[in-house]
Amino acid sequence: MTARPADGGEPHCISGQAGVAGVIGWPVGHSLSPRLHGFWLRQYRLDGAYVPLPVCPEDLHDALAALPKLGFRGVNVTVPHKVRTLALVQRATSAARLIGAVNTIVVDPQGLLIGSNTDGFGFIENIRNALPGWSAGSGPAAVLGAGGAARAIVFALIEAGAPEVRLLNRTVEHAEALATDFGDSVRPLPWKERQNALPGAALLVNTTILGMHGQPPLDIDVSALPRSAVVADIVYAPLETALIAQARALGNTAVDGLGMLLHQARPGFAAWFGHMPIVSPELREHLLSCAMPA
Ligand code: ATR
Repeated sequence: MTARPADGGEPHCISGQAGVAGVIGWPVGHSLSPRLHGFWLRQYRLDGAYVPLPVCPEDLHDALAALPKLGFRGVNVTVPHKVRTLALVQRATSAARLIGAVNTIVVDPQGLLIGSNTDGFGFIENIRNALPGWSAGSGPAAVLGAGGAARAIVFALIEAGAPEVRLLNRTVEHAEALATDFGDSVRPLPWKERQNALPGAALLVNTTILGMHGQPPLDIDVSALPRSAVVADIVYAPLETALIAQARALGNTAVDGLGMLLHQARPGFAAWFGHMPIVSPELREHLLSCAMPA
């Protein structure tokens, strides 16, 4: 079968032996993953398909159990299923267990579901891509927010050698709970301290929804950071948030949330389709030329 992509790209040949993967979410129509994996499948001329799978919460258990029976090599898991999926896979990586959520499933040769979490990998790889040689060990990190995304990022920062994570959250109890799970290098701090957390930090990360389309702005003055510090925002709608714009204007290296999203997808693609893909400027342009979710 030859499918001509709606975006006018190269036709993509899918045989009866094609490897099949997809993304499970509810709703799933907003997901960029089908376009992203479709781009890579075309780029590397692989015999594979990646499909959106709208699965409501009541059907999550049955849908996951059906994956091996349907011959799926695996799936990505997105909102709102990431946390529940951890209890529904047969095995989970230590990262997924510590983070408390699964975003990637690989079906092993025995038909068992192996859950992992690649968000932290995506976060670190995105910075390394922008700043080759960057090391998490270069200094303290200031992380804004203590939700699911923050858990993945704090886990990755500690694993990559960050000496200290200053964790600022509106509900300080959520930051304290995260610190309990991740150890002494995480310092939970009240939200009003965010300005004071910047001097001497080597990295500032926004993991909150602030600055996203339709949400309040993030009120912070980045000039208190050293100029050598990296600023990262996981928000990607808009792509250039006020935080990223402020950091770039000051001369700090800034990385946007789209990069993290693209890099977190790489290990799943490699496991299902046998080729570790790269994040190229063409890939970014391709996704940006399609409508970005609001
Ligand atoms: P995700 O899984 O994407 O990280 P989440 O778990 O809902 O999403 O976390 C959202 C984060 O944004 C939380 O840290 C939240 O703070 P609380 O723990 O106090 O809820 C933060 N957040 C949301 N709205 C905020 C606001 N108006 N001001 C400051 N922080 C906010």
